[in-house]
Amino acid sequence: MTENRRDPAPSIAVIGAGYVGLTTAVCLAHLGCRVAAVDVDEAKVERMSRGEPPILEEGLAALLEEGIGAGRLSFTTDAAAASAGADFVFLCVPTPQGGDGAADLRYVKEAASQIAPHLEAGAVVVTKSTVPVGSAGTVAAALSRPDVAVVSNPEFLREGSAIGDWLHPDRIVIGSDDRAAAERLTALYAPLDAPVLITDPASAETVKYACNAFLAAKVSFVNAIATLCQAVGADAVDVIRGMGYDRRIGADHLSPGPGWGGSCFPKDTAALLRMAEDHGYDFALLREAIVANERQFDLVADRVEEAVGGSLEGVTVAAWGLTFKASTDDLRDSPALSVLRRVRHRGATVRAFDPTLPEASDANLRSLGVELCADAYAACEGARALVVLTEWPQFADVDLARVSASMANPAVVDTRNLLDPAQVRAAGLRYTGMGRS
Ligand code: NAD
Ligand code: UGA
Repeated sequence: MTENRRDPAPSIAVIGAGYVGLTTAVCLAHLGCRVAAVDVDEAKVERMSRGEPPILEEGLAALLEEGIGAGRLSFTTDAAAASAGADFVFLCVPTPQGGDGAADLRYVKEAASQIAPHLEAGAVVVTKSTVPVGSAGTVAAALSRPDVAVVSNPEFLREGSAIGDWLHPDRIVIGSDDRAAAERLTALYAPLDAPVLITDPASAETVKYACNAFLAAKVSFVNAIATLCQAVGADAVDVIRGMGYDRRIGADHLSPGPGWGGSCFPKDTAALLRMAEDHGYDFALLREAIVANERQFDLVADRVEEAVGGSLEGVTVAAWGLTFKASTDDLRDSPALSVLRRVRHRGATVRAFDPTLPEASDANLRSLGVELCADAYAACEGARALVVLTEWPQFADVDLARVSASMANPAVVDTRNLLDPAQVRAAGLRYTGMGRS
């Protein structure tokens, strides 16, 4: 990968500087482009302009500093100024779940309408937000600029490894009816070492949903295998290792857990189900993967109930980890919260610790009635069960004897199979994992 590209460097506007937009902005600046990142959130723009990352993401601070220092990266709330003269405008705004399950394109349309009057003839508008089939047409209609090309370029990065994923993607998917625009975008990505699939917009839009739905279903499947292992007395860790060696299955994304969540799997599986329905196809397999995931949250709550040996009414439960997975501070649609909602509903009091959340600053947590503790030990004091919900590696290094001594009933439900059962038992705690006897 080269840092410097031909002169003059392409001029880029990125609309929406969240997980995807900010990552795209810093990475394009790293590749030598001149990038103006736009967000409606003034406070966020100010923070980013000072070089402060608004999210936890490995490598982000360094690339922010590099881009700003080199004069290639700037932040603004002014979409008009950023898009005037830009060669490419990347749309990275949210596409939340609408009431009927379908993706809500309000922000995409708004952003397109905002930039439309300011674009140069020949500019390329690149949709990176996850959007349903037909959205390339929706964007073109909102732009109403026949002299501007529209390209669908879905993003596949994961939170927690966003920078690495963006700079080393498995593939780049570009969908457009305008071959020249698709090739210009391909050239922009030339410094990245990845296969490029150029296709039509509907196929590009579908690839994104197909991947997220497949990955979500893969986790639902492996969670079901773990439950089966528990029932038949097999060891899920060994069973899954045995599955993962098969290259057709692969060991990645094959860990059982408390259920899948995050800002995208839930809304994207719902949107794909809806899209299929709208086109007369009953995607029963996907629906079952979603239903199985809801059952997984209940199953974890059941395991916690079994660990305390009866009803959760009036019982204190300790929880380690609240984010939707490790290496991120993102709480959106976190499975940990889905589980704790159920645990609270059954009458328990919850004391929780998460390394990214030092105090009860989040409205979701307050409304859930979860008390945030200063560390992993404090959360366990007087608890009748500990549930490990996020796979933060530091939880594996906690002094388990100290944990055991502080609990009213020393029992652990390890939804990530993170802890060593032998060590847990040696410390005097009862252990329940996912599919581990
Ligand atoms: P996000 O909520 O983190 O960021 C979106 C940003 O857009 C926010 O900062 C918001 O203030 C800003 N915004 C909203 N309307 C705007 C406007 N009109 N002009 C300027 N800024 C505006 O969202 P995200 O997680 O980055 O997701 C964005 C899109 O990318 C979604 O479609 C999502 O499905 C998709 N996606 C997300 C991920 C991920 O890991 N988060 C990965 C791949 C794809
Ligand atoms: C996911 C996809 O992996 C990305 O390719 C995609 O770009 C992104 O969604 C998106 O469209 O937003 P992300 O949501 O960051 O990325 O997280 P994942 O690592 O995929 O995990 C999603 C959920 O599945 C988490 O709750 C996680 O704990 C769970 N999971 C994941 C498991 O339970 N087991 C696994 O083996 C993997």
